[in-house]
Amino acid sequence: MTDSRGAQHQRSLDEPDSFWLEQADRLDWIETPTRAGDWSFEEQDFHIRWFEDGVLNVSANCIDRHLASRGDTIAIIWEPDDPQAEPLRFTYRELHAEVCRFANVLKAEGVKKGDRVTVYMPMIPEAAFALLACARIGAIHSVVFGGFSADALAGRMADCGSAFVITADEGRRGGKRVPLKACIDEAAGIFPGIEKVLVVRATGGAVTMQPGRDIWYHEAAAGVSADCPPEPMKAEDPLFILYTSGSTGKPKGVVHTSGGYLLWASLTFATTFGYRAPEVFWCTADIGWVTGHSYIVYGPLACGATTLMFEGVPNWPTPARIWQVVDRHRVATLYTAPTALRSLMKEGDDPVKATSRDSLRLLGTVGEPINPEAWRWYHDVVGDGRSPIVDTWWQTETGGHMITPFPDTPTKPGSATLPFYGVEPRLLDGDGHELHGATEGNLVIARAWPGMMRGVWGDEQRFFDTYFRTFPGVYTTGDGARRDEDGYYWITGRVDDVINVSGHRMGTAEVESALVLHHDVAEAAVVGMPHDVKGQGIYAYVTLNSGIEPNDALRKALRDWVRREIGPIATPDAVQFAPGLPKTRSGKIMRRILRKIAEGEIAALGDTSTLADPAVVDDLVKNRVG
Ligand code: WT7
Repeated sequence: MTDSRGAQHQRSLDEPDSFWLEQADRLDWIETPTRAGDWSFEEQDFHIRWFEDGVLNVSANCIDRHLASRGDTIAIIWEPDDPQAEPLRFTYRELHAEVCRFANVLKAEGVKKGDRVTVYMPMIPEAAFALLACARIGAIHSVVFGGFSADALAGRMADCGSAFVITADEGRRGGKRVPLKACIDEAAGIFPGIEKVLVVRATGGAVTMQPGRDIWYHEAAAGVSADCPPEPMKAEDPLFILYTSGSTGKPKGVVHTSGGYLLWASLTFATTFGYRAPEVFWCTADIGWVTGHSYIVYGPLACGATTLMFEGVPNWPTPARIWQVVDRHRVATLYTAPTALRSLMKEGDDPVKATSRDSLRLLGTVGEPINPEAWRWYHDVVGDGRSPIVDTWWQTETGGHMITPFPDTPTKPGSATLPFYGVEPRLLDGDGHELHGATEGNLVIARAWPGMMRGVWGDEQRFFDTYFRTFPGVYTTGDGARRDEDGYYWITGRVDDVINVSGHRMGTAEVESALVLHHDVAEAAVVGMPHDVKGQGIYAYVTLNSGIEPNDALRKALRDWVRREIGPIATPDAVQFAPGLPKTRSGKIMRRILRKIAEGEIAALGDTSTLADPAVVDDLVKNRVG
């Protein structure tokens, strides 16, 4: 089987045009494309286009085309936060009606093809309806994770000029209420361009509605038809924008297209997970991340699968919750993050063993390197040694899986194994020279693939500069990797100033920008530190303005400050007050040293001779937090 994988992979590289035009048959086209990839990563002639003359509608691909053959199949199972509450189920036919109604509400409220619609929603079925409704009318959705602050939300809306936002009164997570509508009210004070707020009633919690701006979804939906013809879209028309952290302070709006992205989401879903109808597939991500886009909504629905959407958290009200949900809905494939596994592993085997899990066929992980201990626990305890694990490496930018096992690929704990069809990974040294054989280096991708991002919203130059300038002619992932003697890839982690906290990407510069906005802070430097559950934690070095006294109250105030500025995921785990930061004579902060101190590798600080003031380091080491 692996041989056939190898042969197919080779063909995808040798005959890309015929390979991809054949694969394009997976989708239902209004106009079938006659061209596959047309691209160049060279600066003079930089462009990336796939299936350029193809025309399709993504929502019709995810819904309408299944109606004749499986209209009564369950498309979405929704499991609520509260285990006592009733799950909901929507067949493809019901999904069609819901999405059409949602689309008609958007239209009635003035949303047009090409408009950017922000989605700031909890994990309720309406979140999926909202995405598909945008796709249906050709509006570009920009989902902002419900855990982001009003500031972060306003910044993202302003960046893509989004005047329309869809939200809910509140969300529910782990028995707590998350005030979403209130957050939008606050964001509207920061970004005055918010013209309309469509509010889904989820909890019934009290909210204030501003007449003329705020609309209740249930009221608007009462008057619209349950039929809405899908808008024909060019393959290269944007489907969505999703903001992600990079090495600079400002998040990038990653742009994905209609044709190439959907093909990638659908093909990787079908292949990596070997999906077989009528299995239940469960991806535990939030819809606010790319994993939720590709493997809760677009991939599964494009394949006519049954996808499970979970409102809650894996360990509430009991550490067995995730396994109980598996049993309750007879989940065949569970796709989750190593951080969730590590936190559940701490609770011991009993909560797992108290459940059956006999429906599980396949286990998946994503988001960060999985340590072998967590891999074995997943395999031996969760999967009772029966189910293979697919450790899928990819990024927001890649649209879907890039290096991943298939269900029958022989695995090694901690390796994402082999490249997906059409993916040509290379390892380069720091000077851009290719390294061959078993080796370690910067992971780059040497050719375009259909699901790759097409741009940074509103900043073409930034797209090129971020991904194609350091190593000319290839896509730079920002990750390091090792390749072993079998050609298997082992992702070693980011090589830039991005850290991976619980499988979520955080730019250190973003946290630094938030810290220096505080009136007591003169300067800040943020690095990653090892964290046994989150993978990486956030370690902040803070220099205070003169006259400000460092104390625990201020430390807490600064953590709360960042939480408010960006969101809970950005909260520093450690704050060290530093009278000075280690700098070169030209004033550049030496992060290498800060990283070592945060990691506790005091003995291995390396060369400090280029420091302007070596005494700074002694103080940092002495006052290390940990
Ligand atoms: C970064 C991308 C891909 C969706 C979720 C995160 C890290 C992702 C793996 C994996 C090792 C991984 C990389 C990558 N990463 N999957 N299986 N093994 N590392 O998307 O927020 O865009 O982050 O996550 O460092 O660059 P993202």
